[in-house]
Amino acid sequence: MRRIRVIGIGPGDPDQVTLEAVAAMHSVAYFVVADKGPDDPLLEARRELLKRHVGSAAQVVAVRDPERDRADPADYRGAVSDWHEARAEAYERVILQQPGDVGFLVWGDPAFYDSTIRIVERVLARGNVEAEWDVIPGISSLQLLAARHRIVLHEIGQPITVTTARKLREAVDAGADNILVMLSARIDLDGFDEWHIWWGANLGTEHERLVAGPVADVAAEIDEARAATKADAGWVMDAYLLRR
Ligand SMILES: C[S@@+](CC[C@H](N)C(=O)[O-])C[C@H]1O[C@@H](n2cnc3c(N)ncnc32)[C@H](O)[C@@H]1O
Repeated sequence: MRRIRVIGIGPGDPDQVTLEAVAAMHSVAYFVVADKGPDDPLLEARRELLKRHVGSAAQVVAVRDPERDRADPADYRGAVSDWHEARAEAYERVILQQPGDVGFLVWGDPAFYDSTIRIVERVLARGNVEAEWDVIPGISSLQLLAARHRIVLHEIGQPITVTTARKLREAVDAGADNILVMLSARIDLDGFDEWHIWWGANLGTEHERLVAGPVADVAAEIDEARAATKADAGWVMDAYLLRR
């Protein structure tokens, strides 16, 4: 039976790929990766990673990411669901055309804010592809954030909330006081003056930047560091821990 392997590749540094992930990369016939448009930096990063761990003969099928309908922000879940179905159809087409085991390279760990697992489930649910599938964990950007700042992500015996920038206020209103934030289009720290922040951008890459301190003291520095990272690297992805 064919195999589909969802492989976590860590947040950018080819040294932060597990031995299990490398073995999985060697076990598949080709890789399906989402192509988010011209000069997609993550597509290039994945190619580099494959060159390093598999060799330049690794076969990559870049699948142009279908457009997501952003017209109705109120129906976020509906729009994402349609988008996932469109991606599932696109991946299914490739898998049906090309024989052999398939690898999906997932940034960071597949369990955090990534839909590859859901999309593979959709591909299989459509009933046209028959395959076994598994998931290889990767180092998440959240783990690397903690390591770089040399912190434990929670206080002794206390909980941690992981959320998106879009849902940050909701988490605070619900009483969360130790919050990891991902997927920020911009950083809005208004109202967090009493909090401490540990922030990191482009972790594991040559353009990595870190800032930590009381929000009131470092908010402006984070804005500047974020803009500088984008200017230097051409892209910015950041994650941060906010603790009251
Ligand atoms: C689509 S999510 C994928 C998360 C990924 N699965 C993980 O485990 O890190 C993308 C978000 O992850 C965070 N992220 C991913 N890679 C990062 C990196 N190298 N440095 C900082 N944040 C990163 C950012 O919050 C970014 O907006």
